[in-house]
Amino acid sequence: MTIAAPVKVDSTGPNTDGYRSFRLGEFKFRRDEYFVYVEWPTGKHVMSADSFLKALQRDVAWQFFYGIVNFDGVVGTVNHYGTVDLFAGRYNDVYRKAELDHLENFSTPMIKATFDEMLDDWTNAGFDPFASPTETGSAFGIKHGDNRAAITRHRVTASRMVSVPGDEPLRNDENGHPVNRHFLDVAQDEPEKHPEPGFDGEISSFNLYAYLSRSQVTWNPSVVSVCGDSLYCPTTEEYILPIIHGNDRVEWFIQLSDELIWQVEDRDSGAALAKVTMRSGDVAAMPADIRHQGYAPKRAMLLVWENADPALPALISSGQLPSVPVEI
Ligand SMILES: [Fe+2]
Repeated sequence: MTIAAPVKVDSTGPNTDGYRSFRLGEFKFRRDEYFVYVEWPTGKHVMSADSFLKALQRDVAWQFFYGIVNFDGVVGTVNHYGTVDLFAGRYNDVYRKAELDHLENFSTPMIKATFDEMLDDWTNAGFDPFASPTETGSAFGIKHGDNRAAITRHRVTASRMVSVPGDEPLRNDENGHPVNRHFLDVAQDEPEKHPEPGFDGEISSFNLYAYLSRSQVTWNPSVVSVCGDSLYCPTTEEYILPIIHGNDRVEWFIQLSDELIWQVEDRDSGAALAKVTMRSGDVAAMPADIRHQGYAPKRAMLLVWENADPALPALISSGQLPSVPVEI
């Protein structure tokens, strides 16, 4: 479904501490110095402004990503790739049983436009929702300024691979940044190329570790290579993944450095399933019916391997494909 932009954003509610209020269907959003308040016809919810903005930033930058982006255990979005569900309590057993959950579907441009304006209005000068806690300022206080340069960063999406002709500018963007304080020991030399005569322009390579060592953002997978539906989406992680991701397909994780701790829950009920500690070199397949949130004690490099085949969610939800990559 395609809806023509621009979309009118409804922000006619009360203005608190200098911040605009927003409405999407029957959902109302408001923030003050410390908190964000979400209301729907059968309930209301409160989140720290800091946590809310970090989650909102990922949802917007990832274009609602694959499957479910839970801002916390109550509110979030489901991507239907053209439309998006905004929900409260839908993936929370207690809200479901009490019949207090609520869900509305919006065209992607409609919800994206509202989220963009909310993120812009509610992000103060000096706060970067993409950055690690020690590398940014505070989200709190009455409204003061903005940080448009930080919140409108584009996720790297290579058409073939970083470093091949046509994709070099992506590489240069990352090269322009300093090496992160936790990655000062990462070698910055480039691979040697020895193409056969006549193939000079067709062989490309780059140092992925050096590339990731210069990433300014955390928990933001960027597509560095594409082969059919196979996407390599490496990312650097520090502190806590600001969302709880609900899968709609299997995801593979390859831990490239340091350590991540994953809390894995049932996607639909939120029931605790497993804790997975991944250390450098570990590989895990996250099933299609779980949700997970990662914790990184130090900045760490993770390769997320995604299968972008648009048929997968329906094949899995209808039972034609299993929710695990291998049945043992
Ligand atoms: Fe995931």
